[in-house]
Order: sequence, then structure tokens, then C-alpha cells
Amino acid sequence: MSTYGYTATSLASPILEWWKTQDRDLPWRQTRDPWAILVSEVMSQQTQVERVVPKWRAFMDRFPTPAAAAASAAGEVIALWDGLGYNRRALLLHSCAIRVESDHGGQLPDTLDELLALPGVGPYTARAVLAFAFERDVAVLDTNVGRILARVGGCSLRPAAAQAFADGLVPGGRGWEWNQAILDFGATVCTKRTPACGQCPVRRECAWAGVGVDPARGSAGVGAGQSAFEGSDRQGRGKLISALRHGPARAENAAALMGFADDPVRAQRVMETLLDDGLMVRDLDWLRLP
Ligand code: ADE
Repeated sequence: MSTYGYTATSLASPILEWWKTQDRDLPWRQTRDPWAILVSEVMSQQTQVERVVPKWRAFMDRFPTPAAAAASAAGEVIALWDGLGYNRRALLLHSCAIRVESDHGGQLPDTLDELLALPGVGPYTARAVLAFAFERDVAVLDTNVGRILARVGGCSLRPAAAQAFADGLVPGGRGWEWNQAILDFGATVCTKRTPACGQCPVRRECAWAGVGVDPARGSAGVGAGQSAFEGSDRQGRGKLISALRHGPARAENAAALMGFADDPVRAQRVMETLLDDGLMVRDLDWLRLP
């Protein structure tokens, strides 16, 4: 019995039963290679899985092992990140590959603490590698799972409470399957804006069931949503990195490439954030990927 009165049986069984016919066909579900799983998880953060699939295939062709990524320049990894957004994740993945080479003999570790110590690997990603590569009975908790738990439990949850709730639901020996199922359930039934409560296999167990204020609003792991992208610094950063994927650019053209031609002060400030983050380097008058 979990603290919330729900058990692996009352909640997980109906969702696992539902999943038998609703399993999304994702290529990284065919492997248990920890590096391939890590790449899929980092790519899937904030990007829809349908868009990730071709990028993941291309990435795995080019960098089939941490050693292959570690031996390449960071800029090559960033170049393959085109279309995924959040280029910092590519840079962190490259740093992670180098660390796996230097500290773990080229093999991703299989303990939570060792995974959490790797660059760019947070609580979600570490548990996703444990569950999906090593088939451990741990619970992954991302914004989708956090939303489901808040709705089912009928209250907003702090991160530690949400993780404890999630941990209590994992059916023994079925952690791989359960975590895949709940991610699919969040992506297709218990969605953020228009949940399909009419088709929900745990409607009777759910404290919310689509009636009244959504308890997931403001709950742990349920981000407030992205701030506007159009015209943002983040959009400018992305535009400049995209331009550099084709080759170096002259620093004097950076403002125009970011879409900030009319605001050189802003352009300078945003350019410096890219340099500070290590996503771009400057050689005299030229800007290029690292
Ligand atoms: N999002 C992130 N990882 C996923 C997975 N393994 N299955 C479905 N959606 C995901």
C-alpha cells in the first residue's frame, strides 16, 4: 500500500492492461543499451517523441557508443541536435560521454548515485536509464507522471511526495513495462490540456476524473509551461546556433542572425550567454561551434 491509498494493483493493473493494446512503437524500446536509452531520454525532454525518432536514429548511427561521442568535438554533437532545441542538452550529453569514458570505462553505471553524478543527468533521466536499460523497479517521474499522480490523488504534490507516491506504484518485476505504460498513458490519455477521461482505465480510482479545478496545476514536476518563445532570448540563441551548424559566422553578423539587428546591446548580451555556456566559441572576428 502506498501512502496515498493506491497500490500497484489498483492503479497499475488497469493501466498495464490498457497498455497491452496501446503500446507506442518507439525504436528505443527494442534495446537495453544504456547509452541508446540515455540519448533517447535526453532528446525526449521537451520534444515530442515522434520528432525525436529520426534524430535518435541519425545520432546513434554517428555516435553508437559514449566513446564515439567522447572522441568528437562538442560542435559535432550540437550539429546533430538540429531541430531538437535546447542545445545545452547536447553539450551536456557530450560532457557525459567524456565522463563515462574517463570514470566508468566507457560503460554507463547502473546505480542511481553514479548516474546522478554524470553531467546533465537529473533524477528523471537517471531513473529512466535504470528502468529502461537495467530493468530496475524504480519509478520515473517527469511532468507527465507528476500530472497523473496529482490528478489521481486529488492534490498538488511536492517533489519528494510525488516520487514516494510513484515509487509505491511500481509493480514488482515489471518496472520496465510499467514506466513505459505510464509515459504512454500521460502522452495519450491523461494529457495536459484535454484529458480523455471518458476512455481512462482508472477513472473510478481518480480523485479528479476531470471534474473541477485540475489538481495538477502547480504540482511537483508539472512545470508552469514554457514562457513565450517568439522574440525571446532563447529563440535568438537557437537561431545563431542553427546558423553555425552550417559553418562559422562573422561576429558582426551575429545580431542579424539572432533576429536582433535593431538591438545591438541585447545581441551582445545574448551572444555572451552562448559563449559562457560553451555552446559557441569566438576566434577573433569569427564565431563557431566548439
Ligand atoms: N518520453 C520519454 N521517454 C519515453 C519513453 N520511453 N516512452 C514514451 N515516452 C517517453
